[in-house]
Amino acid sequence: MPDLAFPDGFVWGAATASYQIEGAATEDGRGRSIWDTFSHTPGNTLNGDTGDVADDHYHRWADDLDLMARLGLGAYRFSIAWPRVQPGGSGPVNEAGLDFYDRLVDGLLERGITPLPTLYHWDLPQPLEDAGGWPARSTAEAFAGYTDAVVSRLADRVGTWITINEPWCAAFLGYAEGVHAPGRRDPADAFAAAHHLNLAHGLAHEVIRSHDAEATISISLNLHVTRPASDNPRDVAAADHIDLVGNRVFLDPLFGRGYSPRLREVTSTITDWSFVREGDTDITAAGIDLLGINYYSTSTVRASDAPHRSPTHGGASATPPSPWPAAEAVEFLPSSGEVTAMGWNVDPAGLTELLLRVAAEQPGVPMIVTENGSAWPDEKVVDGRVHDDRRIDYLDRHLVAVHDAVRSGADVRGYLAWSLLDNFEWAYGYDRRFGIVHVDYESQARTVKDSGLRFAQIIAANGL
Ligand code: FCB
Repeated sequence: MPDLAFPDGFVWGAATASYQIEGAATEDGRGRSIWDTFSHTPGNTLNGDTGDVADDHYHRWADDLDLMARLGLGAYRFSIAWPRVQPGGSGPVNEAGLDFYDRLVDGLLERGITPLPTLYHWDLPQPLEDAGGWPARSTAEAFAGYTDAVVSRLADRVGTWITINEPWCAAFLGYAEGVHAPGRRDPADAFAAAHHLNLAHGLAHEVIRSHDAEATISISLNLHVTRPASDNPRDVAAADHIDLVGNRVFLDPLFGRGYSPRLREVTSTITDWSFVREGDTDITAAGIDLLGINYYSTSTVRASDAPHRSPTHGGASATPPSPWPAAEAVEFLPSSGEVTAMGWNVDPAGLTELLLRVAAEQPGVPMIVTENGSAWPDEKVVDGRVHDDRRIDYLDRHLVAVHDAVRSGADVRGYLAWSLLDNFEWAYGYDRRFGIVHVDYESQARTVKDSGLRFAQIIAANGL
């Protein structure tokens, strides 16, 4: 028996996303996505990196599935590239694109691995961005059509669907800070995007249900754990502001509470929320059967009289605007203690806190950690090994944190490591490695890191 045993049936897996690993950007009828456009625009990514080749997973998928089986993964979270399925974003379906995911799902099932597809992990078809992108309502409607195409093909073999990955990043890094695709910088658009992402979830929910009444429907949120620097009411209000525009803007509509008057009030200088139409909050209230939690780090904030910049999420952009609209009076304190190669602090207790918060606020809603992991500098393959002790330490401590939450009553059903493979880390290109498996981008050789070996042991023991 391990010292810390997880509940029977606890799901162990790893996660990736289409644009970060697939490559094959122009093959088999794939259309362009906003990430193709963005990464090919000079100055947007570190070293000008793009996802054109990435991990070449589009061709190496069968070997990658064998690797997952060797690690003992029970589940694999991947994302489906909308531009492979519908190059135009709406209209004709590209069967060759769907065939890839068909093969992938079959390959997973043959190896006893549960497929956990995410329908949207940020690679919006470029034609939809040209027609207004997420700030336009039509994008949410198009998402329902795309969902229908995918679910019609795969629902006979897929039982759990994650609609959208981290809508906060899609809306606020993509349309306010502009350090993620499509790189727009208009805070009002970012709120419209957030609403349409919520709406897209609700519309997709209806479509999935219509195909499979029993499906487990989920969304992955990167909820922010933001602590006030002191119990001074102004600092507490600063943390609350971040909670409103980082968390409650998604949680409230999802759980049927609509957008709070407080949220509308703190954003009133930016938007009048007129993009929310009558009936929308009934659609967004479709809810979920399982809440995906992506967790990496925490922040500490305080109130400030001088306008402040928040830390950037962009790899190549020096001074982008803030992804926190209307929060100029909120100062993010520099990360303290141990920080990863992303500059993110290591704070496992934040994960326990987050899981317990959601458990208390949304009783009866099971959770799954759909992403957690870390990037560290200077990882080299030496004699076929990668000694990534800091990633092992991060993994162990975060699993203890999950276990703490479970012991305190949180209904956490699984843990998916980010990421299976080193991959294209958005604006940071290939410079930041999150994999439990190392990828040599020249040869595409895969080497299981020590953290991958450690994870395999934990999976086999169902604990640590
Ligand atoms: C999350 C993203 C994921 C990956 C990790 C490090 O925000 O969902 O694609 O980039 O961060």
